[in-house]
Amino acid sequence: MSIRETDVAELGAVEPNLEPSTTDLMVAGNGLMSRRLLLGLGLGGAGLTVASGALGADFSMPVWSKQPGPGPSGYGQPSRFVADIQRDPGRANPLYPGGGASRTPLHQLRGTITPNGLHFERHHAGVPEIDPAAHAVFINGLVERPLAFDYESLLRYPMVSRTQFLECSGNSGALFRDAAVDGTAQSINGLVSCAEWTGIPLSVLLDEAGVSPEARWVSAVGADAASMGRSIPLNKAVDDVLVALFQNGEPLRPEQGYPVRLFVPGWEGNVSVKWLTQIKLSKEPSQFRDETSKYTDTLADRSSLQFTFPMGVKSIITSPSGKMQLQTHGLYQIEGLAWSGAGSISKVEISADGGATWAEAAIDAQAGDKSLARFRLPWRWQGNSAQLISRATDNYGNIQPTRNQLLAEKGALAFYHFNAQQCWDVSSNGEVKNTYV
Ligand code: CO
Repeated sequence: MSIRETDVAELGAVEPNLEPSTTDLMVAGNGLMSRRLLLGLGLGGAGLTVASGALGADFSMPVWSKQPGPGPSGYGQPSRFVADIQRDPGRANPLYPGGGASRTPLHQLRGTITPNGLHFERHHAGVPEIDPAAHAVFINGLVERPLAFDYESLLRYPMVSRTQFLECSGNSGALFRDAAVDGTAQSINGLVSCAEWTGIPLSVLLDEAGVSPEARWVSAVGADAASMGRSIPLNKAVDDVLVALFQNGEPLRPEQGYPVRLFVPGWEGNVSVKWLTQIKLSKEPSQFRDETSKYTDTLADRSSLQFTFPMGVKSIITSPSGKMQLQTHGLYQIEGLAWSGAGSISKVEISADGGATWAEAAIDAQAGDKSLARFRLPWRWQGNSAQLISRATDNYGNIQPTRNQLLAEKGALAFYHFNAQQCWDVSSNGEVKNTYV
């Protein structure tokens, strides 16, 4: 027999019949089991089948099988039975019209691609409604030929597609606080998403404009009412930055920058300027508001670092996760997401005993560098309290730090770039809560 991952995935009604041989598969403390179980190896006699409990074995034809449903539609929508899967936009601030963020429901999603309607948002003056026929992208400053591109002309350039994550540098920032916030994977960590981005390499457009030899920085400015702008070193701009027009195959959604945005792989989300309208070449950075008053890293002596761009190696457990309730003792699948702004994920380890012992999780093949990876590991919960932690390592050997290591490095005034290991505490009654170890 073989085991399907979905069979061990749900948080309730799982009571597998573990035979004595299964104890061989225990690989770390507090019930962590070998990832070989998920890879389809060593399953003989493990008895991990999970049959449907709620419906029973009696077959009768359901009502939806007895008459035709609605026909084809113009744009498909999720089932009404999953209407609770929503971004969390938090509370609007009346003093900051259009500002704020919405967070991806990481705990309700299972793959590595974020559906377009659930990709996190961060806006500084709301979402402009841009008519592509009246919009242009200008390249000027230290160039041989200032150029303007309208949307139709951009569509004629050669494009590439890359599946890559985007993370706000403020993601998980609440975990810098002294008291462990009570929240979900979404509310604490939901400012990260992943999509297939399609667009024109920025280097192609810069070549056409002819970059002057003295240029060192590229300033990108959006057409929103905040004139969101960021400065990017020229060497990154010509490396892997895209002028993106499509997300998961369709034109960008308005909240993701329609009709055109910058996409800067592996770097803090704010530099991937949406509603892109200007690319200016210069010797020095432009010192925009969002690289002076914000998106800087304040050190313990109250000086601040600017232009701290790359996102560190990081992982989060999405299930079980905060505010979930484990219903029965038995087998669970611990799973989550890992990523690194430097490259790809080479290893994810999981601890169920607060970091005392670790087991290596199974990792799905990553779509490429700087994309999300999903990891999974079976875990037998027998009703004792557990502290679940994940720890990622990337292909450069960077290891996700502990929270104490990160605080020691960044100091007490830090807010951005939290990438430390996070701990979910499972109490003996099955309640799951964010905690510090
Ligand atoms: Co930064």
